[in-house]
Amino acid sequence: YPITAPENISNCVPADVGFNTEDAVRGSACCPPTTQTTAVPYVLPEVTELRVRPAADRLTPEYIAKYQLAIKRMKELPDEDPRSWKQQGKIHCAYCNGAYTQYMNGHPELKIQVHNNSLFFPFHRWYLYFYERILGSLIEDPTFGLPYWNWDNPKGMLLPEMLEAPYPHPDPESNRPPNPRYNPLFDPYRNVAHLPPAIIDLDRGNAGGDKDCVAQISENLTAVYDQMIADSAANPDAFFGTNPNPDDPKAIVAGSIESGVHSAVHVWVGNPRMTNNEDMGNFYSAGYDPAFYLLHSNVDRMWQIWNELDARNVNPSNDDWLNASFVFYDENQNLVRVYNRDCVDIERMGYTFEPSRLTWLQARS
Ligand code: C2O
Repeated sequence: YPITAPENISNCVPADVGFNTEDAVRGSACCPPTTQTTAVPYVLPEVTELRVRPAADRLTPEYIAKYQLAIKRMKELPDEDPRSWKQQGKIHCAYCNGAYTQYMNGHPELKIQVHNNSLFFPFHRWYLYFYERILGSLIEDPTFGLPYWNWDNPKGMLLPEMLEAPYPHPDPESNRPPNPRYNPLFDPYRNVAHLPPAIIDLDRGNAGGDKDCVAQISENLTAVYDQMIADSAANPDAFFGTNPNPDDPKAIVAGSIESGVHSAVHVWVGNPRMTNNEDMGNFYSAGYDPAFYLLHSNVDRMWQIWNELDARNVNPSNDDWLNASFVFYDENQNLVRVYNRDCVDIERMGYTFEPSRLTWLQARS
């Protein structure tokens, strides 16, 4: 019984954000627009030129400007447009806060949850796939690649500068002078104590208070090493997590990267002064921070690197995983259904990652 997003998305039910909905500053209505209700199977388009996802800390000013313009246009779309910033943010809430029901093994009450199990990597890969294509189409650049926040490399271990910097680039669409206060990548709900030059803490389990940055960096590298190699070598279940299992929910295991460094980045960016640690520190709101997509671009890269590290690092091959499916609106506002089995080859999906040094390969503890 593969996890299957609903046949008809008008069956989406109100999400359960897990707290008083009045405290949901981002709103708790997470269902997608129903301009279309039944998804057609998605066919990967022919790839003519690979999109290259660049490292966030090495972007040229031109690339930053292009990325900012794409996000700005996304934010300017009307809220009901499935490509809009708001609808893209809601996708995370819908798939993480129980807006979709999965009928499985006689468990009609089962809600789809794409976290803490083996759906984590494929769901987010597809989510970013469409997000990247939408951004590219908004700036008419079919080769646009979503930057990755390379928190696994010492150079990337701080919040990417461009997310908070003033917006220095003149708006190419108006004659108004540049407004240094407006940056489409800015998010008001971040932990201000963690703006640059604060070094990220990728190892929440090892909270030793204020470490000097050399110690913090080496602890971070060790955390990545452990989750990419030590804990998961030749054990795909430990890397991916195990399939959802309604008969034995306690037996479900979350993957090493998901529960480790990935969650650490969420917690580190979210604002602890907000009731629900918005945006990044909560499922329902994480998709509203551009940092979310940069974080997940690197999570996606970790999957790819893991596959290349060792011949034993193979993807799940059971039918439930391969045939699990999700629905998304694509860049042409068509509702499509995608399957895990079609997201295992990123070049077939049309993208690749600009290489960065894997400093953590030497960080065995
Ligand atoms: Cu859907 Cu980073 O979590």
